[in-house]
Amino acid sequence: MEKTNKKPLIITIISIAITLIVGISISLYVKDQNYKKSYDYKLGKLGYSKEEITKIKSLKEEQIDIILNHEYSDIIIDLIERKYFLKKNLDKYLDYIKDNNKDLDDAIAIINVGANKEWYQDPVDTDISKENEMLSNKFHKLTNEYNPDDLTDISNVYSYGENQKLRRIAYDAFISMFNAAKKENITLIINSSYRSYEEQEEIYNKYAKWYGDEADKIAAKPGFSEHQTGLSVDIQSYNTNRDTFEESEAFKWLDNNAYKYGFILRYPKDKEYLTGYAYESWHYRYVGLDIAKYIKENNITFDEYYAYFIEE
Ligand code: DAL
Ligand code: ZN
Repeated sequence: MEKTNKKPLIITIISIAITLIVGISISLYVKDQNYKKSYDYKLGKLGYSKEEITKIKSLKEEQIDIILNHEYSDIIIDLIERKYFLKKNLDKYLDYIKDNNKDLDDAIAIINVGANKEWYQDPVDTDISKENEMLSNKFHKLTNEYNPDDLTDISNVYSYGENQKLRRIAYDAFISMFNAAKKENITLIINSSYRSYEEQEEIYNKYAKWYGDEADKIAAKPGFSEHQTGLSVDIQSYNTNRDTFEESEAFKWLDNNAYKYGFILRYPKDKEYLTGYAYESWHYRYVGLDIAKYIKENNITFDEYYAYFIEE
């Protein structure tokens, strides 16, 4: 009786043990297979540390795939941590850095604004729905039909010459700025403001005749001038010209105060590689108070600001 009872018990114990061993093995195998498919495993295999992997995992899947398709590179981690790094541009940064010996922040700025291309190459239409935040540069063009619908005549109290016009919002901001400067005995005079496509064409052709290829650093081709937005002004003061304006009290005042009225110096010194234009101490653009303050405090161009904060 006893003998016949023991046998099935042993068999039961053995079968339970086998089932457990097989079960545990399968689950360990599945776990291992899943781990091998994980970013932690793949990135670790490429040589990334735990800390670096955490940073990389904050990216989108498509960007992580780009990293997985490259050998270990500490530049990628460095790039991700830069202030104006845009995930969508990662592959372009890597290509650009490979071929150009550039500081990473410069490389990021160049790629963000598209200045790795030839000037005027593959331009897109300016998004005019952005109103006073719209971008006009060598890669964003306005049609020959575009003219702002609220252009306002500028009184000759504020300007040289006849027929000067600005968009209402920029004109009102200019008047406030003019009055504030006047209180400090500084006179800001509008020398040029809104220019139609045809007027810009005339100006560009004139410069091209005088300066040849150099003209492109000084004047925009028609459709690419910020003056066509009705948001830009060229400013002078008494007894100044383009060459001397930078030395004037008016320039110093603008340098310290223009942003308080929503204006920025649009083509700053040493930023030709981003704007495509030589330094213009006289050309100011209305962008609104918040953007002007940010650009002033962070010393970036509007092109960079637009690429990072406005462009979709
Ligand atoms: N001088 C500026 C760049 C223009 O022509 O719009
Ligand atoms: Zn100008």
